[in-house]
Amino acid sequence: MSLRRFHIETLGCQMNILDSELAAAALLEAGYIPSATRDGADVVLINTCSVRQHAEDKVYSALGRLKDFKKEKPHGLIVVMGCMAQKDQAGIFKRAPHVDLVLGPGQLEQLPRLVGTLRERMSHASNGKKDAVQDTARPATPLLEVSLDRFARTHRHGEIKESFKHYDPRRVPQARGNRFQAMVRIMFGCDKLCTYCIVPSVRGPEQCRDPKEILEEVRQLADQGVLEITLIGQTVNSYRWHAGGKTTELADLLAAVHDIDGLRRIRFLTNYPRGISDRLLDTIRELPRIAPFLHVPAQSGSNAILRRMKRNYTLEEYRDLLDRMYAKVPGASVTSDFIVGFCGETEAEFRETVELVRYGRFKNSFIFKYSERAGTKAAAEFPDDIPEEIKRRRNNELLDVQNAITFELNREMIGRRVEILVDGTTGKTGEENGLPQLSARTACDRIVVFNGDPSLIGRFIEVEIESAAPFTLFAKSLATSPAASIVCRTS
Ligand code: 5AD
Repeated sequence: MSLRRFHIETLGCQMNILDSELAAAALLEAGYIPSATRDGADVVLINTCSVRQHAEDKVYSALGRLKDFKKEKPHGLIVVMGCMAQKDQAGIFKRAPHVDLVLGPGQLEQLPRLVGTLRERMSHASNGKKDAVQDTARPATPLLEVSLDRFARTHRHGEIKESFKHYDPRRVPQARGNRFQAMVRIMFGCDKLCTYCIVPSVRGPEQCRDPKEILEEVRQLADQGVLEITLIGQTVNSYRWHAGGKTTELADLLAAVHDIDGLRRIRFLTNYPRGISDRLLDTIRELPRIAPFLHVPAQSGSNAILRRMKRNYTLEEYRDLLDRMYAKVPGASVTSDFIVGFCGETEAEFRETVELVRYGRFKNSFIFKYSERAGTKAAAEFPDDIPEEIKRRRNNELLDVQNAITFELNREMIGRRVEILVDGTTGKTGEENGLPQLSARTACDRIVVFNGDPSLIGRFIEVEIESAAPFTLFAKSLATSPAASIVCRTS
């Protein structure tokens, strides 16, 4: 039995995108072949997110559609991985008995071995009876059940210190969306225990990686031709590593990454609003290849709600932080996340959030309706009492306020020259020159499109912004590659 083609579908955040890349890399190295579609695959992997109910619903509908896959390919394998898998292994097997394997984010390394074991068991199960592993003939229990429980349970009692003992990710260019951009994990998990959030119980407590390992990985990526690196973690500004009487913080890590030859742009995500040091902001300002771009989720503009969320800062402190970021890093772009309709949120408290969005002048904000997560402190202690239609109305209203600001900031870019990294095509073609429309991003993650020569993909170039739409900037056409690109730090 060959079963050699795999297809991965990813839901959720940057962590999951990176995990999917690493899973693909491990499978490629084990001799598996990628498939662009699930129909063309023998092994379908769904990388799940559990941060909101909506994400979980999407997983179950994807799994529902995979029933047909299993009917057509009785030997095909369905693997569910990621945060929801960690949280609800038994539930997944119960609701979707056609799933073959459920494994958590801390078990990625074992993926090729587990898939191999599954394939063997599958061939044993069907040995001698050609069509035995049909939908109806599937065993009542999964062919392979890995134990995930320990971590979640022990973490709740605060006993476990590590959920990722072994981590030596293989970085394979073919596993990435493109060869010139990559993410690097600098830490796992989260220690913040915000009352609404499921992440600490599915990703474990905060665990930082040794800076030596991180730098080695970045160097390897730079050698592979990566130009833009994003350092990722749940709360990257909490990064700390103590060794030999010396402490390495995010600012030190950024400075060390900045020294690596070949890299042109360095970003980092996500920041927690407490512990953004002046030293970090000075480092961003002073080092030209560090993008002046800060994602710092505020979640709410109301002190009462922030307290109930256990965010550990006040509205005033968040506003001071905004002032400090804009003052210390001229031209900085700040982005945020907000949750509307959190337990007991009054209209007046919501208005305070609207005010904060106005004050913040965020480049953009991700806005979410509160979704109760079983196992969190909020689910245990506060009723989820804001009706869905009020959550929806607040979500839309906040989005309208943010989008107007986003558009305004975009219009301010008209006439400016900015450095962009061209990352692909949009599928459209220019009417006048017949050139394809290319897509690109500025240092601060603004989307720029322009008609240009496809040889520009994967290059940093300078362009002039001609016009702006709410979420897109339009630059002048570029028929040929410019001779040299200039490093320019604006926006
Ligand atoms: N409901 C809604 N949004 C949530 N987030 C985290 N947990 C929840 C929840 N239970 C949002 C936060 C976080 C982002 C990644 O997801 O805004 O910053």
